[in-house]
Amino acid sequence: MDSALQVEKLSKSYKRRVRQPGLLGAAKSLFSSQTEELQAVKNISFSIKRGERVGLIGENGAGKSTTLKMLTGIIVPTGGTLEVLGRVPWQERRQLALNIGVVFGQRPQLLWDIPVRETFRLLKTMYRIPDDVYQVTYTEAVKRLSLEPLLATPVRQLSLGQRMRCDLAAALLHAPAVVFLDEPTIGLDLSVKEQVREYITDIQEKFGITLLITTHDLKDITETCDRLLLLDKGSLLFDGSIKAFEQKYASDRRIVAEVRKPVEAEERATLEKEIIKLGGTLKEAEGHKIVVEHREEGAAPALTQLLLSRLQVVDLNLEKTDIETIVTRIYRQPVGKD
Ligand SMILES: Nc1ncnc2c1ncn2[C@@H]1O[C@H](COP(=O)(O)OP(=O)(O)OP(=O)(O)O)[C@@H](O)[C@H]1O
Ligand SMILES: [Mg+2]
Repeated sequence: MDSALQVEKLSKSYKRRVRQPGLLGAAKSLFSSQTEELQAVKNISFSIKRGERVGLIGENGAGKSTTLKMLTGIIVPTGGTLEVLGRVPWQERRQLALNIGVVFGQRPQLLWDIPVRETFRLLKTMYRIPDDVYQVTYTEAVKRLSLEPLLATPVRQLSLGQRMRCDLAAALLHAPAVVFLDEPTIGLDLSVKEQVREYITDIQEKFGITLLITTHDLKDITETCDRLLLLDKGSLLFDGSIKAFEQKYASDRRIVAEVRKPVEAEERATLEKEIIKLGGTLKEAEGHKIVVEHREEGAAPALTQLLLSRLQVVDLNLEKTDIETIVTRIYRQPVGKD
């Protein structure tokens, strides 16, 4: 079987009790049966092949966790179909549990009063993890996520970041075929975030895991994924490679030059014409700073040459819009759907 996840016109709407304003209203609405529907996920379709590494992003409330909850069988969709490893998650949750790994970063799952080491042993028994697999996943997790000093501590006493690391280790302990990570780096300090990303990448490669990860830290995506899904108010706005995403939305590249003396009006007019001929636009020519933007990748050398030959350039920088800037821009102003 080539496909790991198959999602077809998937929707989820939540029923909510209509709340009246004010304190009295709140009390009243407790007894009222008036409800309203909120469409958290709207008709989304995508499929993910085995071994793919996919990032799911979107603003707060975009429907990411709802999607992951449907994929892991925690909630039942209100429309459409979905299959994970050929099974319908909400119907075959138990069977699927042996083949998937799940982390909900906002709500760590390990909350037991027994030490970390015992927790892992218990999971080994529960999941019937073969010794040779456990040997690899357990040892790797302890080493790569620096869990050694935590092993004797009851899970309940761990800090959020420590518990996240244990949660991740626990989710991967049985080397599941598909792993769902919902904000696995939330609340972690920078060095631990890096550790977690490296661990995810390593284990993914070692076992050929299919990975679906949601996050607000785009570094998680660029470092662990090849493909991106962008949810916007419940709808799928983009599905494709990270490179295709950049090409689609990061159309502008900039050449920023610092010049010895400011460009005069007349000189500016001729320069602007030539820049346009080479496929660029003169965005700024104030004081000692010149900014040229262009859309095509290959236009930079000619434009740079033009600037160098016409002006006394003292410093020069080529800039490409990074994925973080693109995403922020998309969140701020809705773009057309296609
Ligand atoms: N149990 C629920 N009952 C009612 N509405 C819900 C429930 N869970 C989520 N929602 C609503 O569904 C929408 C999508 O929520 P979801 O948790 O999927 O967003 P998200 O993309 O994971 O956001 P975040 O980045 O904040 O985690 C939100 O408007 C939220 O208020
Ligand atoms: Mg969420």
